[in-house]
Parts: sequence; structure tokens; C-alpha cells
Amino acid sequence: MNVRDSEAVESMLVAAGHEKAAGEEDAELVIVNSCTVRQKAEEKAVGKAGNLIAAKKITGLMGCAVKRLGEDVFKKLPKLDFAVGPRAIGLIPKIVADGRFPRLELGEDMMSEALAAHVNGGFQAFVTVLVGCDNRCSYCIVPDVRGHEYSRPAREIVAEVRALASHGVREVCLLGQSVLRYGKRNTAWDERDAPSPGGYTEAFPRLLEAISAIPGIARIRFTSAHPKGCTDELLRAYREFPQVCRHLHLPVQSGSDRVLAEMGRHYTREEYLAAVRKLRDFDPEFAITTDVIVGYPGESEADFEETRSLMEEAGFDNSFVFKYSPRPGTRSAALPDDVPTAEKERRDQVLLADQERRGQLRNDALVGTVRVVLVEGPSKRNKSRWSGRDSGNRIVVWDDPSGVSAKAGDMVRVAITEAHPQILIGKIC
Ligand code: 5AD
Ligand code: SF4
Repeated sequence: MNVRDSEAVESMLVAAGHEKAAGEEDAELVIVNSCTVRQKAEEKAVGKAGNLIAAKKITGLMGCAVKRLGEDVFKKLPKLDFAVGPRAIGLIPKIVADGRFPRLELGEDMMSEALAAHVNGGFQAFVTVLVGCDNRCSYCIVPDVRGHEYSRPAREIVAEVRALASHGVREVCLLGQSVLRYGKRNTAWDERDAPSPGGYTEAFPRLLEAISAIPGIARIRFTSAHPKGCTDELLRAYREFPQVCRHLHLPVQSGSDRVLAEMGRHYTREEYLAAVRKLRDFDPEFAITTDVIVGYPGESEADFEETRSLMEEAGFDNSFVFKYSPRPGTRSAALPDDVPTAEKERRDQVLLADQERRGQLRNDALVGTVRVVLVEGPSKRNKSRWSGRDSGNRIVVWDDPSGVSAKAGDMVRVAITEAHPQILIGKIC
């Protein structure tokens, strides 16, 4: 979501007549986008802004850390020129044009210009479908900084994807904190919209149906999901629309029912695993990735082992492990942060090692298969190798020293010859 917001600000500034600098050193204006989901993330962004101020540029800070810090952002960074919250980024071009610093905009309301997708000449684009979150998980600061859940009108999203397709976009990634809740808190489809030809009644599968009908859009991804959203209608949409990619990022956070209840996740271990089984029964190659928190207050060794075994049972294709970080104002911040740092680190390492092994096994099973890959471009580390992603979001790499077999945005077939925990290697066929 932050990548999308940064892209949106870039395109707004370019539209206002600014020019993109070759690099940070050449820029007259630099804006740092910030996250505050963990204390470390916030410190990193604030630290970076501090370094840029020292380099005497016009410096702005945007995003979630600004919203959390409010006025205090200027205590941390006295020479910061401007600070803008995540729902106020549409104001940035005007703030820059006015040049009246210091300036703080926290932005309580939705700003539609800040939601519009960005066309950068590439073939992939992020499209915001839902903002904010009302889930109130005990540890999470997102509702405080990104505000209430709001689904954008479906007709606005469809029109935007149409425009993106006409600019050459082939893959869209639909974004929301809990994207399967699309149209649940506010109505996203209204009576002026055509009835759903497929008979879909749930707002999100219906959106997938509408976007699948847009010529030129070869792939539709979305993130993030909650197991409650894995309904039969969603499964039907996966089955009916080949453009919808067979990958779901389904954050689990913990495998212990006790911890899940404390976190307020609204599912049990068994309910979560049932959602995973549903997806894998439908397609055994369905890629499922997750987020896990280690060291939540009171997380015992037994709780941690429950997480480990859940991850094994779910057979995650990839996972992101986070060490618990108390965030001011959240429910869990009132609990003692009682798992020692060294123990959080150990649990993190254990899960990472498990994932390496599991990722290798999952990928080994794909050797000998043919992946349909959307080409992204030459690999950053080795220019004679090209890379792209399959429907499951797996990174697929192949040799093409002269870069003749395909270009970015093409769809190719790659026969897999070699597997690693995080990448598949093969030959174009
Ligand atoms: N501490 C550690 N990790 C967190 N996450 C969210 N809040 C916290 C926190 N307070 C993790 C969750 C979420 C991911 C984006 O960040 O796993 O899915
Ligand atoms: Fe970080 Fe959450 Fe904000 Fe995203 S919404 S940038 S994860 S604090």
C-alpha cells in the first residue's frame, strides 16, 4: 500500500510539472514515506528523513508514522519542511507549490485524488479498492493511522482499471487492508450499475467478475485477505476467471487458539486451516503466503510450537515473520511485553529456517512443470537472466543473455528445471 501511495505522489508531482530526479543526490525535494506498524519501521523512516535534512534538501515525510506522531513529528525532526498523513497525500503538490514550511496535514477525510491509480508506463499497477480497517486486532495500529474501513465505488474502480488497460497495464493488484471485506461496511455497488451477469451476490467476487471482463487485463491479484472471506463465491470466481491469480496472502499471525483469541482475530486455528484446505482442494498448486507475529505478550513455548505446526500443516509457500512490537494506544500495549528480545529473535530464526525447508519442498514439487509467467525484465543481480512471476506469485528465472526471447509485459511459458526456496529456474518453451 505504501508503494502505491509513493507512486501516486510521484505521478501527482510529475503532473504538476516537476521532474523525477535521477537519484536522491540530485533531487531538490525528497519525500520519505513512512510506516509505523512496528517501532523499528517508524524509526527507520524518521532516521532517513533526518539524514536528508542534514543534506539540506527540501524534505517531507508522509504516511502512517506522521499520523501517529502528529505535532510531535517536528520535535523529532525540527527542520522537517512538511509532514502529511496517509489520507492527506493528495495535498502534497499544493503544499510543495505553496512553499510555506513547516506544514503539517494529518487528513481525517478521504481524498479521492489521492486514491486514483498511477500510470507509469509499466504493465503492472496497484489499485486501491478499500482503505482503512475496522478490525481492531489487539496489536495493530493500522486503524488509528489509516482510519475507518471504506470501499471505493465499484464503478470508479472499473473505470480506473479500464483506463489503466488502455495505457498498456496487463496486471492489476487490488489493495485493501482486508480486501475480501470489500463492500461490507459501505455499499460499493449501486442500483445504477448493471446486474451481475454471473449472479454473484458478494461485492468482491462481483468486482473480480467486472474486472475480468476488461480487455487487456491478463492478471488480477489482490491483497491482503482474512480467512472469513474465503467463501464459496470467491472460490467460484477463481474457477470462472482465469485472470484471477492463484495466490492468496492470508496473514495467520499465530497458530495458538489462545493467542488468536487474545489478538481478536475472529478465527480459530481449525477455521484458518479449513480455509487453506478449501483453496488447496480446489488447486493443489494454489500459493498461500502469510504473516506471523512471534513474541506476542504471554506467548509461551507451547503457543509458539502451535504456530510452527500450523505453518507446517498449511504448507505456506512463503511467510513473513515479525517480532512483536508494542504500539502506543493499541490494546496489547497495555500488556507486559514479556517475551525477551533474544527469545523473539530465536523464534523468528526457527520459523525462517522452517520456511526455507518448506519453500524448497514446495518448489521441488514444481520441477518438471510448465509455469505461465508474466515477464518483468532482466534480473537485477544478473543481467543475462530474466525474471517474471507465475500465477502463484512465484519468482521464475531463465537465461536469456541477448534478451530476445521475451520482453517485459509478455506472457511466456517456462519449463522448470531447478528449484530454490524462493525462486524457480527454467527454460522458455
Ligand atoms: N508488532 C509486530 N508485528 C506487527 N504486525 C502488525 N502489527 C504488529 C506489531 N505491533 C505485522 C502483522 C501484519 C504485518 C503487516 O505486520 O503480522 O500482518
Ligand atoms: Fe505500515 Fe500499517 Fe501504515 Fe501499512 S497501513 S504503512 S503496514 S502502519
